Amino acid sequence: MQIDPARHSNADNYKLITNLVIPRPIAWVTSLNDKGLVNLAPFSFFNAMGSDPLYIVIGIGNRDEGEPKDTARNIQANGDFVVNLVTEDLLEAMNISAADFPADESELTAAKLHAVPSTLVKAPRLSAAQASLECKLFQSQPIGANTLMIGEVVMFHVADHLVGPRLHVNNFAPIGRLGSPSVYCRTTDRFELPRITYAQWKQADR
Ligand SMILES: Cc1cc2nc3c(=O)[nH]c(=O)nc-3n(C[C@H](O)[C@H](O)[C@H](O)COP(=O)(O)O)c2cc1C
Repeated sequence: MQIDPARHSNADNYKLITNLVIPRPIAWVTSLNDKGLVNLAPFSFFNAMGSDPLYIVIGIGNRDEGEPKDTARNIQANGDFVVNLVTEDLLEAMNISAADFPADESELTAAKLHAVPSTLVKAPRLSAAQASLECKLFQSQPIGANTLMIGEVVMFHVADHLVGPRLHVNNFAPIGRLGSPSVYCRTTDRFELPRITYAQWKQADR
């Protein structure tokens, strides 16, 4: 079936994109508001864009009334944020943090989580996260009803037990987001597929 997004509603197109581009990693973002309160919310329009420089992107939609979400407002005001990654033990807390809390009420308290100071940015990170990325805002780009946040990763925090020799990360299994609105997957079902060169492909018996 061919589906022309120009002939469909935003709601239909959201359904299509979020059910086809899967699984998506989840950026569980801590940011600071103007009163110093820690804000926490998950975003699955998220990915890493490259390693030199180390950039990540997050797409934050406006609220239905057209107002920016607290995370977008905080990142633009302060110029930094932390992406915490969501493992299965944190799934329930992540879901609580996605509720539409008022800006003056911290999602952390509701989700029984604690923030610890970051090293290079003002926004704190979650103590319970197995991995967190301290980010400085590189650029924020409004695109329609969304804001594309491009962040530069300036510090990694990874639980000691996950880091092996030569910085190999082992047994890290963050949750992925599948179809909208609330389907997730584990990343524990893994296999290896070694890369091949053109010469190896040419030599292969076919
Ligand atoms: C798993 C998950 C992923 C989400 N991904 C996004 C996203 O990519 N972009 C977005 O604007 N909202 C996303 N949301 C909704 C926000 O988390 C929600 O609007 C939240 O209340 C925003 O909080 P804030 O106002 O504190 O920033 C997602 C929610 C969940 C549960």
